[in-house]
Amino acid sequence: MTGQFITFEGIEGSGKSTQIRILADYLKLRGHEVVTTREPGGTPIGEKIRRVLLNTEFKNMTPVTELLLYAAARCQHVQEVIAPAKETGKIILCDRYSDATTAYQGAARHIDAKFLKAVHQLATGNLKPDLTILLDCPVEMGLQRVQEREPEIPGLANLDRFEQEKIDFHERVRQGYLKIAKTEPQRVKVIDALAEVHAIHEKIAEEVMRIL
Ligand code: TMP
Repeated sequence: MTGQFITFEGIEGSGKSTQIRILADYLKLRGHEVVTTREPGGTPIGEKIRRVLLNTEFKNMTPVTELLLYAAARCQHVQEVIAPAKETGKIILCDRYSDATTAYQGAARHIDAKFLKAVHQLATGNLKPDLTILLDCPVEMGLQRVQEREPEIPGLANLDRFEQEKIDFHERVRQGYLKIAKTEPQRVKVIDALAEVHAIHEKIAEEVMRIL
């Protein structure tokens, strides 16, 4: 039995977590076994790495250090969570995966694609999502939503290390994502994240039901 590995991508504040929550309930109501998870994170090791990656104290982290930490978290996540869930027929809803590395460390931090590819191969054995939902919205809208949110780790900075980046960084991330969608239109479905929450959910559910 093989499950389905579905990932959610988008710039900061694009509404991924809300949509994952709604979709998980929708699928469970229809009798599917659903695993929701996130990157960086999803395992005890990955969650520790997440704290390092998002910590605003580490302003001098090099792009390659960043890439390798994401890859380390992902390697553990694939082994411990994604592959076992897929093998037992579950639907995995994952908040970010390797397209985030292509957009953030590739398009925005300018690491060469050949290194990203080699690291992806090493960390995941080239495991690709069956479907990717890209929630797309203008950078200004996403960042405005992020400003209004509570900090993820109470007591720490309201905006994490990435959220504190300038607008042009986020613009490169957005364009990086749109480029992936253009290259792989079968796998990556772009959905307008400015629409009303339930209208967005309906579009996502339509794409998901197509592959189930
Ligand atoms: P989140 O805020 O959506 O949970 O994601 C954490 C941050 O990590 C977000 O700013 C995007 C960034 N990120 C990367 O730069 N590369 C990656 O491979 C992943 C998974 C996330």
